[in-house]
Amino acid sequence: MVPVCALLVLLLKASEAVTVDYFDYGADYYQTYGPSGQYLFDYNGNEMFHVDLESKSVVWTLPGLEKYASFDPQGGLQDINIAKYNLDIRIKRSNRTVAPNIPPLVSVYISNPVVLGEPNILICCTKNIFPPVMNTTWIKNGEIIREGFKETSYLPAQDGTFRKLHYLAFIPNDHDIYTCEVEHWGLEKPTKRIWKHEGSTPISEAYQNVICALGLAVGIIGIIAGVMLIIKGMKQSTAQGRNQR
Ligand SMILES: *[C@@H]1O[C@H](CO)[C@@H](O)[C@H](O)[C@H]1NC(C)=O
Ligand SMILES: *[C@@H]1O[C@H](CO)[C@@H](O)[C@H](O)[C@H]1NC(C)=O
Repeated sequence: MVPVCALLVLLLKASEAVTVDYFDYGADYYQTYGPSGQYLFDYNGNEMFHVDLESKSVVWTLPGLEKYASFDPQGGLQDINIAKYNLDIRIKRSNRTVAPNIPPLVSVYISNPVVLGEPNILICCTKNIFPPVMNTTWIKNGEIIREGFKETSYLPAQDGTFRKLHYLAFIPNDHDIYTCEVEHWGLEKPTKRIWKHEGSTPISEAYQNVICALGLAVGIIGIIAGVMLIIKGMKQSTAQGRNQR
């Protein structure tokens, strides 16, 4: 079955929907395959919040931001319905033309300089995503990792594609090999990006870091905060491990 995709990205003026003026703009989309839609507000490429379509509630990226701002999730849900309605029209108008699947670009890098034995965060950055449907898996030494990670929403880019970041809390050592694997319809086979400690950081890694981190500083703080809690847990368990020795 070939999924029919026509994708609609609406740009909304913040002033129309939200009282807080530091929201630059928001974006929503609806598509015929799951996840069917997304409604998020974004500031300079940073996710501020999104509306969870299942629970019909607002999910703030920065913890505590809800104290200073509010948003009625119904507004988001209504806009998603409008996008859905427009999508049907566009599918017909385009004579059911299937949108092309674009191969995404994937890179993995570390958020802080490596100190062996000290908790750190691996970032898997995927750019050029279209349509916004993909599977991302973290793998450690060939085994799929089931916990200790977080992800952003699909962050809209100016060219109509999306970006998405996945964060993994981990403790670097000399031997573990980490892989970020991305499945997307634009790829013949999944893209795999490997990270392991190499002694010194190659320049290309630092360069990728800049490329991907650009404009994401604020939005990721919330996610990082979540990952930091995981790391705190890790530290405690390593400390306990040491005490037991
Ligand atoms: C729509 O697509 C069908 C199947 O490819 C084709 O037969 C038909 O002529 C197209 N109609 C228009 C209006 O382009
Ligand atoms: C993601 O994984 C599910 C379950 O394995 C699979 O059905 C789906 O096709 C995958 N999606 C992509 C974009 O590869």
